[in-house]
Amino acid sequence: MPELGINIDHVATVRQARRTNEPDPVWAAALAELGGADGITIHLREDRRHILDRDLEILRRTVAVKLNLEMACDPDVLEIACRVKPDQATLVPERREEVTTEGGLDATGQRDRVAEVAGRLQDAGISVSLFLDPELRQIETAAELGVDAVELHTGQYALAKPGPDQQSELEKLTTIAAEIRKLGMALHAGHGLTYRNVHPVADIEAMHELNIGHSIIARAIMVGLEKAVREMKRLVT
Ligand code: PXP
Repeated sequence: MPELGINIDHVATVRQARRTNEPDPVWAAALAELGGADGITIHLREDRRHILDRDLEILRRTVAVKLNLEMACDPDVLEIACRVKPDQATLVPERREEVTTEGGLDATGQRDRVAEVAGRLQDAGISVSLFLDPELRQIETAAELGVDAVELHTGQYALAKPGPDQQSELEKLTTIAAEIRKLGMALHAGHGLTYRNVHPVADIEAMHELNIGHSIIARAIMVGLEKAVREMKRLVT
């Protein structure tokens, strides 16, 4: 059974919409842990559009499960990661104009940079995962760099129409997953996973960790909104 990492960036996105102090991702992380989360995932972006340095620092002290920091190969964020020491760092590509992480990291094309950042993180005692598209060349680079895990980008699978298209994306993930295991790295997956499409990915042999954000936060709004309105209604009547 894979571990479930909950990406709480969207909670910080709502907070930053007003640049106020609620909702607090620290509180959200505690609730996620109460719900059974095996890990808390946050992305400290270079532009600090949602998660802030303060969130990472407090979460490091409060999260009892695995703390997974998504980060670009950025020198400033690398310094912070090496000092704060999350349990795991997942290296992702980052472009300012993107709404979310769009493609996998080009570990092959940026091999030297990725090697340097991954090495620094591992020297600091942080386990390193690379967020990669399901392409053999990228997986082989990850193995050569000696990283601990590969997080397979499930975005294409999630976007594919249910039926033969989705099946073909799933087969691509399954084939590459076997290579990741063969090369001795832990198998993670994430991006675009929902209550409807998660099952076949969770069932891939030796799937170790799934990271899910959007769908769970979206559902949390829907299952929590009625209660929140009732509480306010009670106050004003
Ligand atoms: N894994 C990685 C590396 C990501 O960048 C993201 C999005 O921040 C996720 C998982 C979670 O994706 P989603 O929000 O679509 O569940």
